[in-house]
Amino acid sequence: MEVAILGATGYTGCELVRLLCRHPAVEITFASSESSAGSSLSQVHPQFYRLCELELQPLRLSDIPASVELVFCALPHGRSASLVPALLAAGKRVIDLSADFRLREASLYESWYGQVHPAPELLDKAVYGLPEINRAAIAGAELIANPGCYPTAALLALAPLAAEKLIQWESLVIDAKSGVSGAGRTPRQPYHFPECTENFRAYRVAGHQHTPEIEQCLSRLSGEEAAITFTPHLVPMARGIFCTVYLRLRRRCGEEQLERLYRDYYRGHPFVRLLPPPLLPETRLVRGSNYCDLALRFDERSGRLIILSAIDNLVKGAAGQAVQNMNLLCGLPEETGLTQPPLG
Ligand SMILES: NC(=O)c1ccc[n+]([C@@H]2O[C@H](COP(=O)([O-])OP(=O)(O)OC[C@H]3O[C@@H](n4cnc5c(N)ncnc54)[C@H](OP(=O)(O)O)[C@@H]3O)[C@@H](O)[C@H]2O)c1
Repeated sequence: MEVAILGATGYTGCELVRLLCRHPAVEITFASSESSAGSSLSQVHPQFYRLCELELQPLRLSDIPASVELVFCALPHGRSASLVPALLAAGKRVIDLSADFRLREASLYESWYGQVHPAPELLDKAVYGLPEINRAAIAGAELIANPGCYPTAALLALAPLAAEKLIQWESLVIDAKSGVSGAGRTPRQPYHFPECTENFRAYRVAGHQHTPEIEQCLSRLSGEEAAITFTPHLVPMARGIFCTVYLRLRRRCGEEQLERLYRDYYRGHPFVRLLPPPLLPETRLVRGSNYCDLALRFDERSGRLIILSAIDNLVKGAAGQAVQNMNLLCGLPEETGLTQPPLG
């Protein structure tokens, strides 16, 4: 199958190239960049020297070959939604890595992303691409809204409890940390090396745009109105997301019972690894892979459950999940092209 990557010079676009280069069922035949049009991919990302020498092209939809069946949009939010209607009209299937089609309500998008939604009529059509909770719907989708990186880590930590209506919502705190690649490749002052290194800080406290995405999904899973406290932090590492989730349960459950709940919920989902004690997730242990590692601990003293979750933001949090969605969409085994072990 021929695919296109719009925004191939960015961090998630680059990660898509890395994964798709050796995917057995896919050939990248169109890759876009505005700033580097005319250069080859390996001139922008030298790691692809002799591996992917495709010439980058400016983003003109009419230049995408008719033979391309699926388009990955790895573009800033807003830009994606302005292109998706024409891509669908041209018969392409689309996996959008931006936030443009994740929220069901255009008004929510406007209030959290500060702009009017360019294609609100497509919000009902888009399928939320978290395979562990939405596998069946993904298989028949034309438009997939690939989840955000923080939502992926937080939702995989909480989905089994939400589905069992076990969460006391007012007790729920999601304390999350991300590496700097989460902010994208465009240089901006708060992400310069001297500003980030030897530093640890919170940002967008009580106002991060991933909050409604997490709430929307937890509400859908639980049938209740989920309300979360979500605090993101920036960590001086290139990639990785780590979430520590604290909550009280509605009814008492032992650690063993909870582990059984998680194992049952994620049975048949190859990319979620519930680690057996005494192992705990670490970003290093999922780096470069599509795994989400989880662990549960019940703090008897405080009566709180603590859930730990780690992903690579560029893989399970973006490009790897997009490839997983593509595999489902195309009827391929879900793990195709994604079986490489973590870098450690
Ligand atoms: N980084 C993450 O961890 C992560 C995780 C999940 C989801 N996402 C989402 O995925 C999307 C891409 O993120 P990223 O981190 O890869 O961003 P990025 O590194 O900033 O890359 C953005 C890409 O979009 C292109 N681009 C920018 N403005 C454009 C425009 N107006 N028209 C056409 N192309 C344009 C850039 O190309 P040129 O500059 O070469 O022209 C570049 O290739 C974003 O919506 C982001 O929110 C990111």
